[in-house]
Amino acid sequence: MGQLLSISPKSARRVLPHKSEGDITDSTSDLGPPQTGLNGLPRLKKARGHYWYPANGPKILDACGGAGVACLGHGRQDIIRAVNAQMSSYTYASYAHFKTSPVQELSDWLIKSTEHKMQKVYIMSSGSEAIEAALKLAIEYFLWTGQPARTNFIAREGSYHGTTLGALSASGHVVRRAPFHALLVPERFHRVSACNPYRQRLTSNESDAAFVARKVAELEAAFARLGPETVAGVVLEPVVGAALGCVPAAPGYLAAVKAVCDRHGALLILDEVMCGMGRTGTLHAWQGEREEEGPEGGVGVVPDLQAVAKGFAGGYQPASALLVGGKVAGVMEREGKVFTHGHTYQNHPVVAAAALAVQKAVEREGLLANVRVQGRLLERLLRERLGAHPNVGDIRGKGLFWGVEFVRDKATKEPFEPGLGVAERVQKAAVREFKVLVYHGQGCAGGGRGDHIMIMPAYTISSKLVVEIVERVVCAVDEVFRAL
Ligand SMILES: Cc1ncc(COP(=O)(O)O)c(C=O)c1O
Repeated sequence: MGQLLSISPKSARRVLPHKSEGDITDSTSDLGPPQTGLNGLPRLKKARGHYWYPANGPKILDACGGAGVACLGHGRQDIIRAVNAQMSSYTYASYAHFKTSPVQELSDWLIKSTEHKMQKVYIMSSGSEAIEAALKLAIEYFLWTGQPARTNFIAREGSYHGTTLGALSASGHVVRRAPFHALLVPERFHRVSACNPYRQRLTSNESDAAFVARKVAELEAAFARLGPETVAGVVLEPVVGAALGCVPAAPGYLAAVKAVCDRHGALLILDEVMCGMGRTGTLHAWQGEREEEGPEGGVGVVPDLQAVAKGFAGGYQPASALLVGGKVAGVMEREGKVFTHGHTYQNHPVVAAAALAVQKAVEREGLLANVRVQGRLLERLLRERLGAHPNVGDIRGKGLFWGVEFVRDKATKEPFEPGLGVAERVQKAAVREFKVLVYHGQGCAGGGRGDHIMIMPAYTISSKLVVEIVERVVCAVDEVFRAL
C-alpha cells in the first residue's frame, strides 16, 4: 500500500491503465470512440463488482456507483436471484388491491432499523417522489391536526431535493432551478444558508458551538419572519450531496435544528436520498448524530419524515421510500387518516424485493463496519495525497461519502470561473486517462460557482481498491491542474 502511495503521478501513469494502452482512439469522448448512445456517451457492455465494462475500451473502476447508487457493486447474483424470484411469483400488484410480502417485510425491516422511531413506510421509485410525498404529507398532517396555516417550508441554500416541482422548489440548487422559475413556488419555500463550515466559519478558530449558534439564530429569524405558526417543516440533507459535495453538518447542528422545529411545532424532514442507507457509516445518517441532551450513543436526531433512495436498492431496481415518524404516524393511526397520495407503482413488489435483498446483504455481511473502516482509510489517503495540493481547498465527508473541493486560491478560497468546468475536467481526465469514475459537480461556493468531485464507492470496497481509487484520482487532479 505504502509503496503504491509513494509513487509519483508520472510513474503511476506507468502502472495504471491509460490512453496509450491502445483501446481508446477518440479523445473527444469520455471512454472510447463515439457510440450510438445518448449524446455520444460510451455504450456500456456490462458491470461487475467494482468495475464498469464499456463496449470499447478497458474496464473502469467505479468510485461513485453512478450517482452514489451502487452500494453493493454490480451484478450480484444473490440480488438478481431475489428479483427474479419475485418476478416469477408476480411482477406487479396494485397497492390498492393487495398486501404483498416483500413490501410488508421491507417495511417491517425498515421500521425496526429505526428502533421503531419511524413507524410507517411508503415505497416509491425515485428520490424526488419520496421528497414530494414528504412535503405533501406534512401539509396534510397539519390539515388533520387543525393547523391549516402551516403551509411554509424552510429549506437551505446549496441543497438538492429532486427534479419534480415541489422537490425542486425546496432545492437551493441555483443552476437546476434556473430554467423553471416560472413553475416553482418561492412563496412557500423559504431559504436559510447551508451548514458549510469550510466556507462559512467567521474565522478558522470559530468553535462548532459558536458556528451552530449562528445557524440556529438564522433559522429562528426565518421562523419569526414567517410566523412560526405558518411553518410546516424544515427540509435538509444531514450530509449535503451533489449540491455541495459531501458536506456534513457541524457537530450539534442537526440536534439544534430539531430543537427549533420541536419548539415551534414544525416537522423536521430529512432528505437522506444520497447520504442515507449506510453511505455515511450508520444505516440512517441521523443515527450518527447526537441528540442535544441525549445519552452517549443515543438513537440520534430522529426526523419526523425521512426520504431514502439510491443505496436503498443499490440500483438493482429504482427504489425510494418515505419513512414517517411517530408524531405523524400516530395521528394517522389514532384518527384513521389516510394520506391522499399514491403512484401506480407505489409499493411495487419487485422494487421491494430488490431493496429487501440489498438491505439484508448489507446487514448479513456487516458492510456498515466496512463503510466506516474503509471510509477512514479513504479520508486519510485523500488528506495525505491531496491535502497540500495548492488547488484543493477542502476535503470533507463521512463514511464512504467524500468530496474534494477545488479552488483557484487556497488562502482566499476563491473558486474557479464556472466556464472553466474544472470539476468536469477532473472527472473526464479521471475516466479517460486513469480509468476511474468519480462524480463531479459545480456550485459548492455559492451562486453556481465552485467545483467539486465526489468519491462514493460500494460498501464492499477493499483497502486495496481504496488505495487505487485515491492514486488514480490524484493522477487526474495533477494532470488537470498542470494543464490549467
Ligand atoms: C439529496 C437528494 N435528494 C433528492 C434527489 C432526487 O432523487 P432522484 O434523482 O432519484 O429523483 C437526489 C438526487 O440526486 C439527491 O441527491
